[in-house]
Amino acid sequence: MRFNAPMMNCGGSWVEVDLAQLGANAASIRNALGGADLMAVVKADAYGHGLAATASALRRANVKKFAVAYVAEAMVVRQAVPDAELILVLGVASPQDVAQLLAQRITPVVVSAEHGCDLAAAATAMDGRLPVHLKLDTGMGRLGFVCPQEVDAATRLCRLSGLDVRGVCTHFAMVELQRKPEASRGQVDKFLAALPVLEEAVGHRLTRHMSSTRGALLLPECDQDFVRVGIALYGYGASDATQRFATRPILQWKARVMQVKKVPADFAVGYYGSYRTTTATEVATISCGYTDGYQRYLGNHGHVLIGGERRRVVGRVSMNWITVDLGPDSGVRPGDEVTLIGEQDGAAIWADELATHCETIAYEILTGISRQIERRYHGGAAE
Ligand SMILES: Cc1ncc(COP(=O)(O)O)c(C=O)c1O
Repeated sequence: MRFNAPMMNCGGSWVEVDLAQLGANAASIRNALGGADLMAVVKADAYGHGLAATASALRRANVKKFAVAYVAEAMVVRQAVPDAELILVLGVASPQDVAQLLAQRITPVVVSAEHGCDLAAAATAMDGRLPVHLKLDTGMGRLGFVCPQEVDAATRLCRLSGLDVRGVCTHFAMVELQRKPEASRGQVDKFLAALPVLEEAVGHRLTRHMSSTRGALLLPECDQDFVRVGIALYGYGASDATQRFATRPILQWKARVMQVKKVPADFAVGYYGSYRTTTATEVATISCGYTDGYQRYLGNHGHVLIGGERRRVVGRVSMNWITVDLGPDSGVRPGDEVTLIGEQDGAAIWADELATHCETIAYEILTGISRQIERRYHGGAAE
């Protein structure tokens, strides 16, 4: 049996990323900010857009601050953007990472007294002083020093010779000014109360940052030194032109028609025949499935664009294929381009539409597109 047969081009799906629009999105956010800077959140492979190409394009758009979840991601950013001013690890870096953090000028957040002591000990052991930002938990209930209870513990870290405490941050659990304004207000109050205590302990002003996309959009008074924006850079969560800034999606996901068949009424489509045609029609099989990140919830619910028209996904989503009811005499042929996410001839399907069908958020749709799918870049030097 031969296992090394050349790959057949079976026409899978691919992603197209518009780096020029990414630059425009960054400019739109930055222009709205006034004095504060923009930190680009590029964790999770830049929300599925491809980390190195996205970070490089953002640098060309004059973004010099980046946030990631893991040290490994930070290393990719450092390589793509050698002159990045700040690469912040939002997750929990370990003492074993300290040599790399120092060598590559990567700044971790410190989330607890124990974490800070461990990082400080590792840095001291190599005669180093590790730049860090303190992460305060003001209401997210996730990572960080619980405020106000653990602020004292954070101040003690400021005196360790192995740590160079440069910044302090927090993260909003919600910014809902109509429904629950007191939630973000409470977080802001706790953060602002901790600042002078920490700054007195460290003996200098700390760089401060609080807001992600919703805070940046709705709480301009919380901009502080910079905002950590993710989803709006990729064109979601900020589409309302009357708000502080507006951005457009930059990612399209495309596939091809593999087969078109004419079928009679009452014809069963897909596993368990969950769709039966009501009239004679045409059914197209498309080259993507749940292994690519096309969620099973979209079976019998989602739409795709073919020939500029919306066509309904019918039957269950299979591992590698989906099926679409084209209607009679569609003119659609094998090889035709299918837009799963994106625009065709003025019609559009964006990740938030898919997210609604799947009872999730655009973040999960974007980050769920398989990393194995080719990303093609347009509108930038990465082309
Ligand atoms: C700590 C932190 N800051 C900023 C962001 C960016 O959030 P958004 O994509 O909503 O702008 C995230 C995203 O998960 C985060 O975890």
